[in-house]
Amino acid sequence: MKLVSAKDMLEKAKAGHYAVGQFNINNLEWTKAILLTAQEMNSPVILGVSEGAGKYMAGYKTVVGMVNGMLECLNITVPVALHLDHGSYEGALACIEAGFSSIMFDGSHYPIAENIEKTKELVRMTREKGLSLEAEVGSIGGEEDGVVGMGECADPEECKMIADLGVTMLAAGIGNIHGKYPENWAGLSFETLAAVQEKTGKMPLVLHGGTGIPEDMIKKAIDLGVSKINVNTECQLSFAAATRKYIEEGKDLQGKGFDPRKLLAPGYEAIKATVKEKMELFGSVGKA
Ligand code: 13P
Repeated sequence: MKLVSAKDMLEKAKAGHYAVGQFNINNLEWTKAILLTAQEMNSPVILGVSEGAGKYMAGYKTVVGMVNGMLECLNITVPVALHLDHGSYEGALACIEAGFSSIMFDGSHYPIAENIEKTKELVRMTREKGLSLEAEVGSIGGEEDGVVGMGECADPEECKMIADLGVTMLAAGIGNIHGKYPENWAGLSFETLAAVQEKTGKMPLVLHGGTGIPEDMIKKAIDLGVSKINVNTECQLSFAAATRKYIEEGKDLQGKGFDPRKLLAPGYEAIKATVKEKMELFGSVGKA
């Protein structure tokens, strides 16, 4: 199956009261692990690519080539969207050009008028090409690609202004942060989430910073209108722990254990297990 926009899968998730996972990719092992797990789980999936990861993987065109190649060679038939994560305006243009099927423009650090103006322009461009577009209001906390956000709660009125531009999905800050949550984290602001959904009607909402949010909060967020949940750090942690174990057990020193196909296998399996667990929690299994 060819790459698809995230629109249909999110509308179905919204109507069916579950969420589709966005799993960020970093290399070939990540991509293959996520695609094969989605296929095994018969689940729709969104592959997220940050600008930093895009650069690391030798550019957006390389990413598009790799993902399209895998869809064909691995016989992936579940719906897959290739999505720019936290894109700048320039990054969004580059990904539209390179063949991504979904774009996030993160204008949350601009004054609202500028966020609106740039998002409006991208609504027009993505619509022309049949791509989905995610916008953001209220910055997500934590660090991503060197940018540290404070984890604000979005203003529901501003969310309405952005939603009304015709974006496909909206990320609203509700006290969530990227990376591990600190001990003293106050939790998600369900009050903000409910107010944002009330103002934005049927708009599918996006929850960033999916790593480490307790299961009951994930379920409540889905109940209140979240249809897409982003996970990145948790796959990195599982990959690192499994790779560490392999090396600490001295397996790379046994036989041909140094072969990258062997050395990276436990990390690859660990990503698959994490993705499976999240798909089960989000309720997207069997929804392809
Ligand atoms: P985590 O790294 O906290 O899982 O967040 C991922 C994310 O929100 C990507 O946009």
